[in-house]
Amino acid sequence: MDNNSRENFGSKLGAVLAAAGSAVGLGNIWRFPIETGQNGGAAFIIVYVGCVLLLGIPIMMSEFIIGRHTHTNTAGAFRKLSPGTQWKWVGRLGVLSGFVILSYYSVVAGWTAEYTTLAIANFFDGKTASDFPTIFADFVSNPWKSLLWMMAFMVVTHVIVIRGVKSGIEKFSKVMMPALFIILILLAICSVMLPGASQGLEFLLKPDFSKITGATVLSAMGQAFFSLSLGLGCLCTYASYFGNDTNIGKTALNVSIIDTFVAIMSGFIIFPAVFNAGYTLSSEDIGPSLLFITMPNVFQQAFGSIPVLSYLVSVLFYFLLVVAALTSTISMHEVVTAYVSEEFAMTRRKAATIVTLACSTVGVFCALSFGPLDGFKLFGMTLFDLFDYVSSNIFLPVGGMFIALFVGWYLDKKMVRNEMTNNGSLRAPYMRLVIFILRYVAPVAIGIILINQLGLVKLF
Ligand code: PFF
Repeated sequence: MDNNSRENFGSKLGAVLAAAGSAVGLGNIWRFPIETGQNGGAAFIIVYVGCVLLLGIPIMMSEFIIGRHTHTNTAGAFRKLSPGTQWKWVGRLGVLSGFVILSYYSVVAGWTAEYTTLAIANFFDGKTASDFPTIFADFVSNPWKSLLWMMAFMVVTHVIVIRGVKSGIEKFSKVMMPALFIILILLAICSVMLPGASQGLEFLLKPDFSKITGATVLSAMGQAFFSLSLGLGCLCTYASYFGNDTNIGKTALNVSIIDTFVAIMSGFIIFPAVFNAGYTLSSEDIGPSLLFITMPNVFQQAFGSIPVLSYLVSVLFYFLLVVAALTSTISMHEVVTAYVSEEFAMTRRKAATIVTLACSTVGVFCALSFGPLDGFKLFGMTLFDLFDYVSSNIFLPVGGMFIALFVGWYLDKKMVRNEMTNNGSLRAPYMRLVIFILRYVAPVAIGIILINQLGLVKLF
């Protein structure tokens, strides 16, 4: 496909909502509350917001600059900007990360779809705390159900992606993102009005700075990358569909505000309800099983005196997760589809089909990690855990670091300024600060996380 026949987003709002759709996902509603719960509540949130401002926004702007300037997929973008150099590997690593994350993310996304159907069928009604761990264990260890839902999720993602940038991704985001905001606010209001909610609110709003340790800072940085979809060229790919009048700085700020707002609102939904139901912050309650064991029980207990309310809250909550996950899987699929279609000169439909088939095949092994393949371990981890670990702890930070270095050091500053100011028609007084962060702060900070996380040197 040549660049002249490439589609763009139809409007600036569409571009913001699509990018926000990528950012808002399971990372906000699942991972963020877990990290907050395990890292001291409000103090973690403050560090997290600091990471978003200091690292997230400058790196997001960098991805936007690379994508919008080249109007091509992420691997092609690096090649175009630095022909004959090894920088192309940063783009290729991004495509690989998109592929790997999509393969395991769609497994969890499939679980949210199964739980939506269970909620609609009122299956949780009358169940007690001891029932939910068994329900979840039975479900994830049943290979067929898990596989079916993973595939279903992949097919829906595929159908939206093949419809194209404007009538697929943008149109879907424009309908679904406002729906997501409405559900989020409704659920937060319900939760905050519960008796005993104040304990949850206090946890979220009253920082205990003694809880901040090196590990808190590391978790907050990792979470910021994952949540903002940074480091794999996902937002670079979306920016390749931005119009020339899109304000890169403003768009990065808006997407980051929306993403952080959704994460914090998820805390407002989860913590008051969790405290109301008498849970503690032990790792089993606020661990990976949060959404599938703790929350369905919380809804039964917290709203059980009004059955219609507990029914509606459960249905809306799981539907919210499905929508959030879907707008993210679409963006990961798009990274790989745009690459295959443009680099191997094939139609979007054909490229998307190859991506869907390949990701589903790898996804099968990830889904089976919870059943028949739970004994199959590489580096001591199941395939699912390995993919999660490698992509979020290694690929994304490495990608983010090189993206920062690329824009901070390699790219011509005149070109960077032209992108930030839309060829001089906008003001970008923050440009020098952003470049300083990209050159020094981001690479050093990310380098420290990486060294520490890989256990090469134990700094914290
Ligand atoms: N940002 C998404 C979330 O918070 O769930 C996850 C994600 C989407 C990561 C797209 C990476 C990506 F390219």
